Amino acid sequence: MTHTIAPHGGELINRIATGHEQEALAKHAATLTRVPLTSREISDLEMIGTGAMSPLTGFMVKDDYDQVVDTMHLTSGLAWSLPVTLAVTDEMAASLQVGQEVALEGKNGQLLAVMEIADKFQRDKRKEALEVYRTESGEHPGVAKVYEQHDWLVGGPVMLFARPPHDDFLEFRLDPAETRALFRERGWKRIVGFQTRNPIHRAHEYIQKCALETVDGLLVHPLVGDTKSDDIPSFVRMECYQVLLSRYYPKDRTALSVFPAAMRYAGPREAIFHALVRKNYGCTHFIVGRDHAGVGDYYGTFDAQLIFDEFDADELDITPMFFDHSFYCKACEGMASYKTCPHGGDDHVILSGTKVRAMLRDGVVPPHEFTREEVAEVLIKHMLKPAG
Ligand code: ADX
Repeated sequence: MTHTIAPHGGELINRIATGHEQEALAKHAATLTRVPLTSREISDLEMIGTGAMSPLTGFMVKDDYDQVVDTMHLTSGLAWSLPVTLAVTDEMAASLQVGQEVALEGKNGQLLAVMEIADKFQRDKRKEALEVYRTESGEHPGVAKVYEQHDWLVGGPVMLFARPPHDDFLEFRLDPAETRALFRERGWKRIVGFQTRNPIHRAHEYIQKCALETVDGLLVHPLVGDTKSDDIPSFVRMECYQVLLSRYYPKDRTALSVFPAAMRYAGPREAIFHALVRKNYGCTHFIVGRDHAGVGDYYGTFDAQLIFDEFDADELDITPMFFDHSFYCKACEGMASYKTCPHGGDDHVILSGTKVRAMLRDGVVPPHEFTREEVAEVLIKHMLKPAG
């Protein structure tokens, strides 16, 4: 039997109650004070429950929060790069006591989990912004979210008795235990994970396939939690991925599944988080290209690769696969990158996201060297500017 890679911290956390425990917890929750969650907190809760966030068993307490912000490590010494927090209003913070149990409330008032409050504390949002996002600017979409949240945080272990309900991508919602089982079934030992919040263009396809040349399987793992409003919606992207994979990817070496996290746009720190979490899903390798999880010009093109040097390889225990900026080169007559192509910019087909969006909105198919026509067609169908 094929063994999958150990989760971060050694154990795949499971904080989802079943059977009698589930029923009892649901009844108990109905008697507790309710703490409403934002959609980001709901997706974090779900990922804690399924073990995607192993070794986390709940929202962060102050010591872990501080260590993560300051040193990118949990108090246990394990590497962890992003705060995973639950914010409450000042009034609620004043009324909650350490040691108290609360019911965590999802959308439409649905109760999802019980949390034992192990800590309540105020955070320094500017410091978090500067350390985690490398900017204090409220223009940064990740920082803007931090500034929008309440000041007080509560932390402690959670136990879910209900999964946040979903009505989309159901066949693609695989928990870490399920992706691990899938990899075992397929006999894949070395699996590369690919994070994306965009349609897959030729450059993405190129780096995925370069990576796949050296491993057994590819997990295309698009993020489908909250993204900023001008990112392409996940349902459109999913249609693109499916059409692309069905025509251009080997079925026995490719898996498509969704990643329920919200996007933080934290660039380098998010690349570490993305890698660790993909290890929990069973990936042994993880692709980090140019500007991974970046936004605007807050990060250098390769900062998300350089940050891996700040950790010992054995503490991350997933192998990053770095790729230079990739593109089609007319002189090479193929996909290449600044690393492998000796030709100049005139030969390179590189289009900015803004330019591509404008073309698609006008119903113009971008050059096939940039994106597969099938993908462009899906995008145009959804993005075409209404006439008049
Ligand atoms: S991200 O925010 O999810 O990182 P995106 O979906 O654009 O954004 O990127 C997915 C992955 O592909 C990231 O690892 C990114 O660094 C990489 N990538 C995107 N475009 C290129 C490119 N032209 N060349 C090399 N790597 C790229």
